[in-house]
Amino acid sequence: MFLRNAWYVAAWEAEIGDQPFARTILGDPVVLFRMADGEIAALEDRCCHRSLPLSLGTVVGERIQCGYHGLEFNRSGTCVKVPGQSKIPPGAEVRAYPVVRRYGWVWIWPGDPDRVDEALLPDWWWCESPEWKTIPGRGSTPLHVEANYLLISDNLFDITHLSYVHTSSIGNLDIMDFPVKTQRFDRRAVMTRLVLDRPPAPFYKKAGGFEGNVDRWLITTSDLPCYIVNDAGSVEVGTGITPGEADEARGVEMKVMNVPTPETETSTHYFYAHARHFKIDSEEWDEIYRTQFTDVFDEDKVILEAQQRNISSVNGAHEIDINGDAPNILARNMLDELIAAEQQQS
Ligand code: FES
Ligand SMILES: [Fe+2]
Repeated sequence: MFLRNAWYVAAWEAEIGDQPFARTILGDPVVLFRMADGEIAALEDRCCHRSLPLSLGTVVGERIQCGYHGLEFNRSGTCVKVPGQSKIPPGAEVRAYPVVRRYGWVWIWPGDPDRVDEALLPDWWWCESPEWKTIPGRGSTPLHVEANYLLISDNLFDITHLSYVHTSSIGNLDIMDFPVKTQRFDRRAVMTRLVLDRPPAPFYKKAGGFEGNVDRWLITTSDLPCYIVNDAGSVEVGTGITPGEADEARGVEMKVMNVPTPETETSTHYFYAHARHFKIDSEEWDEIYRTQFTDVFDEDKVILEAQQRNISSVNGAHEIDINGDAPNILARNMLDELIAAEQQQS
């Protein structure tokens, strides 16, 4: 069950070229295409004539032409041309999805078009700030994960996994010694863990050139359903925990923007991008973010898919909770509330 009245990332803008582009989103087959005016449209990927996917067709100006018998549909999903006849049959239309472009991504609204609300898009101001540098994940492609998207949300809230899954890069065991704080705000769940006066993790040691211990923050914020930011900073001990404004004289800060978009109940297109607030003019560090973090996400993929295989094969298996689960339990409960409210409205 998904929250449908929400924005989901359908694609990187860079993925949409001259050809129609197919992707399944929340179980819906969708075709995205770039029109002659540069705008992007999203339609149901099924011709209303004989069900051929429109993604097998051709973009013609500001329409998509079906690859079977040539019917043409405009950005609203209305059939505007039937070759060989002047009359368009009644009901000749396919579903159109509202589309917005932001932060290099194409977002679509799979719910009720009358409830579209751009205020529900996340405000990631740093992606547009000259003081931050943003690098798309995986060369502007999503990571395909054979797992439910909420397992990815859980993973991003559970920072203790850094100490076991990502030991060579961003993890170290000091994380475990400090408690987690969980907060709820409207449609937002927040996890905060401060790790004070401890050695920097390998990646931060290299990034910040630290000689001694650091104060470190790990903050995961999820704007429901699944716009999840990891804010992570390491600064010289005692110079202040300042999320969003760590300056280079004291240390380093970065944010990872994660949008795991459900494909089906058991698979996800996982979009992510990295923003950093240090060495923003360094091509070397651009390259590090382009390449090294790919391995970190691949490490997560192995875990997530193995979890999903077990979850799918053993229905209702016994699971227990531990203290570190508080934020992801909160986020799941809040999402359940939103979905229940949506069901009541419809
Ligand atoms: S199936 Fe699309 S035009 Fe016939
Ligand atoms: Fe991870």
